[in-house]
Amino acid sequence: MRKVQDHYFKKARNEGYPARSVYKLKEAQEKFRILRKGDRVLDLGCHPGSWTMYAAQVAGPGGVVVGIDIHATRIPAKAAGAEIKIIRGDINDPDLRPRIVVTDFDVVLSDMAPKTTGNRLVDERRSLDLVDCALLVVEDLLVNGGVFYCKVFEGPDLKETVARIGRGFKKTRIFKPKSSRRESREVFVLATGFFRLKVETGKVWADTGM
Ligand SMILES: C[S@@+](CC[C@H](N)C(=O)[O-])C[C@H]1O[C@@H](n2cnc3c(N)ncnc32)[C@H](O)[C@@H]1O
Repeated sequence: MRKVQDHYFKKARNEGYPARSVYKLKEAQEKFRILRKGDRVLDLGCHPGSWTMYAAQVAGPGGVVVGIDIHATRIPAKAAGAEIKIIRGDINDPDLRPRIVVTDFDVVLSDMAPKTTGNRLVDERRSLDLVDCALLVVEDLLVNGGVFYCKVFEGPDLKETVARIGRGFKKTRIFKPKSSRRESREVFVLATGFFRLKVETGKVWADTGM
């Protein structure tokens, strides 16, 4: 993560969030109201914890936020609101699924990003693999009517990826938050009104052997 001390970097520090990326969720929340009081939220790729912290503040007491990341994530004590559970693990690991005790999430967030190699095509492929993995999680754990907000890298496969996400939702839209650097190829897909029944896929992400 680049540590340029821009407006959002300073704002995050002043507001007590560990990363400027919090505004990529906050802007979406202010525009589309994707999180609600009492929600159960799954945050994929949660380190260093800004989205988890913000989601817990919005969901408030009675809500639950489960954050997952390869890296150990410590949420600042300042985070108030919903109950927070952090799981350290790789979303591709089949042994991770049983560790997520909450099973019906109202919202699945994914800000997961692969380690970049500098090779544009390889980085884009890895990012799309993470989206596919997040989609398997969505099929398994998102409630009907639920919301999925996911980072995707712009490239030749973007349209196809958005269409693939859209197959299980009433509505999808692409959102580029102001806080996302203009030179960054990331955009976010907001998918609302989940309706795909779990039985349709015949599989869950934990037994795909990915
Ligand atoms: C941009 S950061 C997330 C920032 C976070 N939303 C925040 O606001 O604090 C992307 C994260 O995705 C995580 N990640 C990438 N691949 C992953 C995987 N396979 N399983 C779990 N986490 C992964 C990385 O470890 C990294 O911490």
